[in-house]
Amino acid sequence: MTVNGTTKVTASTPAPGIPFYTPTQPTAPGAVSPKNTKPVPTLFTPLKLRSLTLNNRFAVAPMCTYSADDGHLTDWHLVHYGAFPLRGAALTIVEATAVTPNGRISPEDSGLWQDSQIPPLRRIVDYVHSQGQKIGIQLAHAGRKASCLAPWHASGHGRAAGKDVGGWPENVWGPSAIPFMDVYPTPKEMTLEDIQGLVRSWADAARRAVEAGFDTIEIHGAHGYLITEFLSPISNKRTDQYGGSFENRIRLLTEIIKAVRGVIPETMPLLLRISATEWMEYAGGESWDVPQSIKLAKLLPELGVDLLDVSSGANNVSQKIDIHPYYQVSIAGQIREALKAEGKELLIGAVGMITNAEMARGIVQENDGKVEIDEEHGQKTMADMVLIARQFLREPEFVLRTAAKLDVDVAWPVQFARAQWPKGANL
Ligand SMILES: Cc1cc2nc3c(=O)[nH]c(=O)nc-3n(C[C@H](O)[C@H](O)[C@H](O)COP(=O)(O)O)c2cc1C
Repeated sequence: MTVNGTTKVTASTPAPGIPFYTPTQPTAPGAVSPKNTKPVPTLFTPLKLRSLTLNNRFAVAPMCTYSADDGHLTDWHLVHYGAFPLRGAALTIVEATAVTPNGRISPEDSGLWQDSQIPPLRRIVDYVHSQGQKIGIQLAHAGRKASCLAPWHASGHGRAAGKDVGGWPENVWGPSAIPFMDVYPTPKEMTLEDIQGLVRSWADAARRAVEAGFDTIEIHGAHGYLITEFLSPISNKRTDQYGGSFENRIRLLTEIIKAVRGVIPETMPLLLRISATEWMEYAGGESWDVPQSIKLAKLLPELGVDLLDVSSGANNVSQKIDIHPYYQVSIAGQIREALKAEGKELLIGAVGMITNAEMARGIVQENDGKVEIDEEHGQKTMADMVLIARQFLREPEFVLRTAAKLDVDVAWPVQFARAQWPKGANL
C-alpha cells in the first residue's frame, strides 16, 4: 500500500481509502463481535438509512463547542470528534455549522459558507471513516439567537456579542423583529430576497458537506434558531406567505429540505431536528406543539427526510417544562406511534437525558420476544436511534460500557483490546 507517496508493508491491513496509515478495525468498535452467540438487543443491531448502514443505534448528538477559527474546525475538533467513533458510536454528528456567517450563534461557531472550511472537516471525516464509523454534520442558522458570546463568557442571560468581539448585532435575522429577550440583538425581519438567498446558502453548504465526505446531513430546525422561529406563531408574526397558517410557517423549512435534497446524492440520508413543542401550551395562546409536529412529520417522507430527531423547547424564555428522564423521549414515542398508525416510513431519533444502559436499550427495543423488556418504559419502541449529548462528554466510552452492562459482545478498537473489562467487572 502507498500512503503519502511511501510504500508501506505491514502485517495489519491498512484502513482503505484513508490518506494516512492506520490499521483497519476488522469489526468496527461498538459493533457486535462475530464471536457473539447470544441474542442482541435492538440497541446493538445495525440501522439502515438509504444506502447508509450504522453499526448500532448510538449517535453522538450535535454539540456546539464554540472553538472554531472563522468557521474552520481545527486540531482540537479532530481530537474531540475522534473520541466517540473510536469508542463505538456508530454515528457522530458534527455541531451546528452555520450556512452563512450571520447564522453563527457565536463568532467561534463552525461554518460551511466557504470552500476553505471543507478541508478541516474532511480530515475529521477521514478519521471517522478509518474507524469503520459514520459521520454527519448539522447545518444551521441561528436566526435571532445569533451574535452571542460562548456560554462560558455569559453571565446570566447577558450573552450578546458586540462588534468589539467579532459579533454582528446589526445584521441578525429573524422572521419578525422580535428579540429572543431584551439582552439579545433585535433581529431584522427577513425580506423575501433574504429568504431566497438563505435557501441557496443552505444548498451550497450541503454541497460542501458532500464534498467533505459526510455520510449524512442534519437540518437544525430546533431550539429557537431560525427554522423554529419561522415555525412558531409566537416568534413569527409575518403576514406574507411565510407567516400565519401552518402551511405558511413550515414553508421555509420545506424549501430548505427541498434545496438540500436537491444537491445531495439520492443515496444519502437526510435528518431533521425539530423542537417538537415550544412548551408554551400553559400560556393558552397559539404556539408550536406536538400535534403540529405530528402533522409536519407526516409530510417529511415525501420531502425526502429519512429520520426525525425529536428535541424540544428553547424558543421562549418563559417556556415551562416538567423535566423528568422521559420528558422528551416520550414525545419521540408519541410521534413514532402516530406515524406508524398511518404507515408512514420515517425513522425517529430520541434525545434528552439518556444517561444509562437500560434506558438506552428500552427506548429502541423492538419487542421481538427474544429480549426481556423493561416493564415501565420498554413496552413500546419509542425510537429507532438514540442521540446522546452530555453523557458522551462525561463518558466517551458510553457505548462500550453499555455493551458490557447489557452483556453484549462488541468489538473494541484493536489497539485497546487488552483493556476490555473482565467479565463480571463492577461497572
Ligand atoms: C455543550 C452542548 C452543545 C450543544 N449544541 C447543540 C447543537 O449544536 N445543536 C443541537 O441541535 N443541539 C445542541 N445541544 C443539545 C444536544 O444535542 C442535546 O439535544 C441535549 O443536550 C439533550 O441531550 P443530553 O441530555 O443527552 O445532553 C447541545 C448541548 C450541549 C450540552
